[in-house]
Amino acid sequence: MYKAVVLGAAGGIGQPLALLLKSNPLVKELALFDIVNTPGVAADLSHIATPAKVSGYLPPDDGLKKALTGADIVVIPAGVPRKPGMTRDDLFKINAGIVRDLATGIATAAPKAAVLVISNPVNSTVPIVAEVLKKHGVFDAKKCVVIKRPTLLWLFFDFFPKRLFGVTTLDVVRASTFVSEVLGDLSLASSVTIPVVGGHSGVTIVPLFSQSSHPLPAGFSPSDLQALTTRVQFGGDEVVKAKDGAGSATLSMAYAGAEFAGKVLRALNGEKGIISPSFVHLSCDKAGGDSLKKVIGKELDFFSVPVELGPEGVAKLHSLGNLTEFEQSLIQAALPDLESNIEKGVSFIESPK
Ligand code: NAI
Repeated sequence: MYKAVVLGAAGGIGQPLALLLKSNPLVKELALFDIVNTPGVAADLSHIATPAKVSGYLPPDDGLKKALTGADIVVIPAGVPRKPGMTRDDLFKINAGIVRDLATGIATAAPKAAVLVISNPVNSTVPIVAEVLKKHGVFDAKKCVVIKRPTLLWLFFDFFPKRLFGVTTLDVVRASTFVSEVLGDLSLASSVTIPVVGGHSGVTIVPLFSQSSHPLPAGFSPSDLQALTTRVQFGGDEVVKAKDGAGSATLSMAYAGAEFAGKVLRALNGEKGIISPSFVHLSCDKAGGDSLKKVIGKELDFFSVPVELGPEGVAKLHSLGNLTEFEQSLIQAALPDLESNIEKGVSFIESPK
């Protein structure tokens, strides 16, 4: 039974996400933090007949610290969403500072918690959280390995950034739903699994349909495959356009966020064999990260990859499997954006302007 915290809990994603976490039997305590309205949201949720004890906090009186203290898992949907015509990268200016400040709170009040970043642009906000945690010396467990040789004392500081996750689950959920639509049977949606790798914006989102648990129909042409891929990559735009200025995906994101948080909680609780794609630091599993870098041919620190979850957070990074030529070309097309998005996040903390 764990303490879960939602930062940005009064927002379009935050409220339904908090509702779903309140319904998760592994959550014994649910703390909600936002700059507005959390006392009301918390009072409302607290009447639901499930075990989790709910509390709401605002910034005064050390609210962030109080919310975070004792946290096992922190989910961050704080920040502004997109409007029509905006890319996720356009959100950087506002959301980068919000995420930096919340990460500073986590580094001091809950350095051991699993941190799940939803705030966009995920390709940059996850590196921001990593840099803040590094600055505070808590980029997860810092293990000091001492090797004594007759004349020398070797000291190695190993960093195991196993608990920082960029939430890309909505891309995975969309891929499953769209494939079940193609197959003409929505009842399959929850059982269709498709790894979605790379990053979380536009062309950096790479669905690997060749590895779908449910093969695409015979006669599915290369142009059909291109259209399906584009739909997953730009699925968020469908929602932004339909909401017509009122924001981006909230309900489907809350569903996806709760699903991923639920998997992390089950793994913390000892359940084995849970695998889900997430945007993670590749040094969290050195062997897995190194072989992935060979496949993509680039020294990137972050990539979304199928992650096996465990009690420490990341247990293992799985390979990308056998990629088709089309999928390899998608990965190559993703790399320039991914690299510059990551760099933008890192330099926001390393050399702020
Ligand atoms: P929203 O505007 O409805 O809610 C955001 C909440 O964050 C608001 O309640 C606001 O008061 C709060 N907030 C702002 N500054 C804060 C701070 N310093 N500390 C705590 N809370 C703060 O926005 P929505 O629709 O919930 O989206 C939130 C974020 O999630 C956006 O950045 C959006 O782009 C992103 N998103 C990510 C997705 C993903 O797949 N990872 C999918 C959809 C949205």
